[in-house]
This record gives sequence, C-alpha cells and structure tokens, in this order.
Amino acid sequence: MKFYATLPPGLEDVAAKEVEELGGRVEEIRQEKGRIFFSGEKDIIPAINHLSRTLERLNLLLLRCSVETLDDIYREVKSLDFSFIKGKSFAVRSLRVGEHDFTSMDIARVAGQAVIDSFMESHGERLRVNLSEPDVILRVELVENELFVGVDTTGDDAMHKRWWRVYNHPAHLNAATACGMIRLAEWKFDESLIDPMCGSGTIPIEAALMARNVPNKREFAYQKLCKKDFEWEEKNVRLKLFGIEKFRKHLEGALNNAENAGVLDTITFMQGDATEMSGEYDVIITNPPYGLRIHRKGAIERLYRDFAIAARKCMNQDSRLVIITAEYKLLARAAEEAGLQCTHERFVRYGGLLTKIMVFKV
Ligand SMILES: C[S@@+](CC[C@H](N)C(=O)[O-])C[C@H]1O[C@@H](n2cnc3c(N)ncnc32)[C@H](O)[C@@H]1O
Repeated sequence: MKFYATLPPGLEDVAAKEVEELGGRVEEIRQEKGRIFFSGEKDIIPAINHLSRTLERLNLLLLRCSVETLDDIYREVKSLDFSFIKGKSFAVRSLRVGEHDFTSMDIARVAGQAVIDSFMESHGERLRVNLSEPDVILRVELVENELFVGVDTTGDDAMHKRWWRVYNHPAHLNAATACGMIRLAEWKFDESLIDPMCGSGTIPIEAALMARNVPNKREFAYQKLCKKDFEWEEKNVRLKLFGIEKFRKHLEGALNNAENAGVLDTITFMQGDATEMSGEYDVIITNPPYGLRIHRKGAIERLYRDFAIAARKCMNQDSRLVIITAEYKLLARAAEEAGLQCTHERFVRYGGLLTKIMVFKV
C-alpha cells in the first residue's frame, strides 16, 4: 500500500527514519514541505498512528497526478473506486497551496461531487455526506499543480494532539516537534535529560513515553474503517528525566499532564529558574520564550545570555543542548559568548512562524 504522511515542515528526514523503524519503506522525502511518501503493509496503519511520535497525519494514497483546472480534479477523482465507503458516510477535507484561480472550498465541492457521481455510476446509490462526523475522511490536496487524494487514517485531530494533555499551556510545544528534537539530540534512554523551561512538560513527558514505548492512546479514524487489533509492549524502565519551570501554575499543569500520561513516577519536576540551573546533564532540550513583542526583546536577550552560561556549566564533553526558538540570532550570539559550539541547525516551520532547532556542544 502507498502512504503519505504530514509532519512539522523541516523534520522530514527525522520522521522518515521513524517510519522506517515502524516498518514503512520511505520512497520520497519532501524536505521543508512537511510530507513524506512511503509504502508498507496494512499493519503499519495502526502501528504508525499509535506509535509514531514525529508525524501529524497518515493518509492512504489513492491518487497522485498533475492537474490544472477544477475540471481536471473532478475527472481524476471520479476515476477512482470508492467501494470501500459503501454503507458509510464521508467528507472531503481539502487543502490548496500555491497560486490558483479557485479556492480550497471549490476543490472540496468539486471532489465531493466526483466521489458521489463515481459511486452512483458503479453502485447505483448515493453516498451519504456528513461534514461534521464522517466515517471516512478523504483528503484532496492541491500543492501547486500536484493533486493528492488520500484516505485519512488519523482523523480531524492530527497525531500531535496527545491523549495525556489535560493542562493546555498557552505556548505549549507541538508534541511531534518535541519528539523530533529528542531524536535530534540522539538521547539514549539511560542518559539524563532535562527541560529547564518545561512549561506543561511536553518534552520530558514525551521522552518518557518514547522510552517506555507507550502508544498514543486516543481514537484514530482508521478504527472506523477496519477493526484491526493493535499490540504493543510497554517497558517499565526507570529514567533520569527532569523539568524546571518558573511559574507554579505551569508546573502544576506539567504534574497533571505527567500523571495523566502515567509517567509522573519517572520525571522530577522542580519550580525554579533556568538561569540558575545546576548539576550535570547528558541532554538539555528546551523551548524558551521567544519574546515576539518588541518591548520584551531586552528581557529575552538577557534570559538567553544567562541561560546559555548556566547550561554550559551543566554540560560535559558529550552533552547536547537542543533549543527551538524564533529568536535564533539572539540564541546563536548568546551560545557563542558562553563557549558553546553549534553542531547542527535547521529551520522548522511552527504554525506561521519560522523557527530554528539548534544543537550545541561544549
Ligand atoms: C514556550 S514555553 C515552554 C512550553 C513547553 N515546552 C510546553 O510544551 O508546555 C516557555 C516556558 O518557559 C518558562 N520560563 C520563562 N523564563 C524562565 C526561567 N528563567 N526559568 C524557568 N522557566 C522559565 C515560561 O514560564 C514558560 O512556561
């Protein structure tokens, strides 16, 4: 079967590695476009939805071709066999990237009609449309002049929406990006890992779930299409995970999230100041405030400078410091002044924001 998955743009190679570990055969990586294409057996549908940590959505690829007009889209979609929707309701979710003289709503309307007409011709029945709670979600996406039609096995809520999050930090990190950072740090499960500005705890919680092989326990769209048993083996390993947060409210939120995730026993959360952190850590991963509002620039500059000095003191020859920020120029300067070497950096698109993940060593 052919699949394509979406993920935070910039982390394609990292996600591709994870897909291979889960049994997929990666065929194409669209670097910085947030898409990878691969093939695999049917069994990887539950495995990837529950166990992939860096992907956002897994689609079964039905069609990929070049189109120019809405008529082309209608014709291409109508040529597909939609027998698998028999007895079920469906909805088309569309996306459009690039310059076109029609909207994504037009794509959804035309593609939806093509699905109905195709089924009517082959089965003599009209398929039921249910826009709010469909049994089957069809993704019809036009990127420049390339059309992708797929069956969404994940659902309207992407995979990065995790089951454990009961406390919503206003600036929480996308869990898929957090896991991408953990993988970029090359964290080994017996190494210590700290997030010194942990907010609601996304990074240490995801590290614990990764090491213990705990799946994403929420419902996925594929479960409405086929009842496939999914088996996994959790490992109750003890880990050296830490989180520091300045504000009580967020720290309490992190504790609630960790408890809900079932990993509170293995993470030490502390209220404190990252610029005064002490001890020695193998891996430091964090998502500091960005200070997008101009009047906070000075405070952010000071925070980055003081944090880089404190982090440097907590690192040994092999330690890695991994940071995501939109203020990457400030960070680069602060890190250099603290005597840290940048060994890797990459742009990652985060919502509408261009951020960088930077890896430092002493
Ligand atoms: C962008 S948020 C982190 C969000 C977190 N990754 C999550 O997923 O919830 C930055 C966090 O750093 C905290 N913070 C800011 N300055 C700090 C400092 N000096 N020491 C510790 N935490 C700090 C803020 O309170 C905020 O919760």
